Amino acid sequence: MHWSRRDFAKLGVMGVAAHLAPRLNAQTPQRKMGVPTDGSSSVGSKTGVPTDGSSSVGSKTGYAVIGLGRIASHFMPGVRLTTNSVITGLVSGHRDKADRTAAEYGVPQSSIYNYDNFDEIANNKTIDAVYVALPNSMHAEYSIRAAKAGKHVLCEKPMATNVAECQAMIAACKAANVKLMIAYRCHYEPTNRRAIQLIRSGAIGQVQAIESAFGFDIAPGEWRLSKKLAGGGPLFDVGIYSLNACRYLTGEEPNRIAAFSSVIDRDGRFNEVEENVGWAMKFPSGIVASCNTTYGGSMEGYFRVHGSKGWIDVNPAFIYEGLHLRADCDGKPIDEPNTARDPSQFQAEAEHFSHCVQNGLEPQSPGEEGLRDLSYITMIYRSAGIAT
Ligand SMILES: NC(=O)c1ccc[n+]([C@@H]2O[C@H](COP(=O)([O-])OP(=O)(O)OC[C@H]3O[C@@H](n4cnc5c(N)ncnc54)[C@H](O)[C@@H]3O)[C@@H](O)[C@H]2O)c1
Repeated sequence: MHWSRRDFAKLGVMGVAAHLAPRLNAQTPQRKMGVPTDGSSSVGSKTGVPTDGSSSVGSKTGYAVIGLGRIASHFMPGVRLTTNSVITGLVSGHRDKADRTAAEYGVPQSSIYNYDNFDEIANNKTIDAVYVALPNSMHAEYSIRAAKAGKHVLCEKPMATNVAECQAMIAACKAANVKLMIAYRCHYEPTNRRAIQLIRSGAIGQVQAIESAFGFDIAPGEWRLSKKLAGGGPLFDVGIYSLNACRYLTGEEPNRIAAFSSVIDRDGRFNEVEENVGWAMKFPSGIVASCNTTYGGSMEGYFRVHGSKGWIDVNPAFIYEGLHLRADCDGKPIDEPNTARDPSQFQAEAEHFSHCVQNGLEPQSPGEEGLRDLSYITMIYRSAGIAT
């Protein structure tokens, strides 16, 4: 199917997802994807949060947020903008922070949990799903405990710290008959989707090569610098955006990977995880990609796709707002700044997962998608000589 720009413009975020979702990754088996086919994104009533913690929240999906850190502070306002999702529970080791957040989101005291009594969420009917926003090494444990409590799981990226954990998460969610989605927000983001649409429509001809990078200068003391908590360095954290983008832009899975890593700054930050990783991938069609990630300097997240008849440059591509797509499609220039503001990407992500939960559909970015990235991360590390 070929999409004109007008066709594309007629669709909202979810509408675009509806038509492109099965093609986001050409090798993903065709599933019953969780996207509305009529372009609508609104599901459910405007029922508010119950105050007694004892009844359901109408047709909205109620989320317990696990870990009230930085990403949770984007996700929760995003949920507030949806019509089908609501924050109904909080899990935190800091009661004062949880109390403040509960007041802001109308969460009753009875729906505030800590890491010790977390499993009691099983008895809370207002909590349908959890949003796992913890350090990477805690994703598997809390996703599995949530599944055992009968709750659907929306888990932040990277899915976990190794392939075995990913497999255990998938198995636990299957056994409990709950949905599992990895929070790859770029899958639901219009500028990234527009790049995919241009490529699939043949607008730049045969893709030949991709370049992508994402990194930042990390502050000392971050849990991200602990191998135990993070699993690895910038590749786990932000390099994963470039890895995942190369896969959704090509619609292929890499079959050759070669990588290098280095530590340049001997200032104590990189005693456990790498500072830089550069890797190359070859895809079955012959497309080649080269990617870089760092914790040693500011590296704007972007991708550039070179085709036989043009190019697409999305820069920035991975941050929360201000995305910008420029392209040359067989001599036709395209310049599309995205004016959407944060937390629109989190709104789209939550809307999608809630829609899947409410309609028994498979999310666009299920556990298997996170598992694939973890398997490629493992290969990249092995190629770079980093022990995993
Ligand atoms: N999708 C995105 O755009 C995006 C962006 C940033 C982070 N993330 C992911 O979200 C997750 C959380 O990242 P963040 O930036 O919000 O981190 P953060 O440090 O800001 O928040 C982590 C939360 O976990 C809690 N926590 C519980 N046990 C902890 C422990 N042992 N050590 C440290 N913190 C502990 C902290 O109190 C805090 O509330 C990570 O997996 C990260 O990769 C995703």
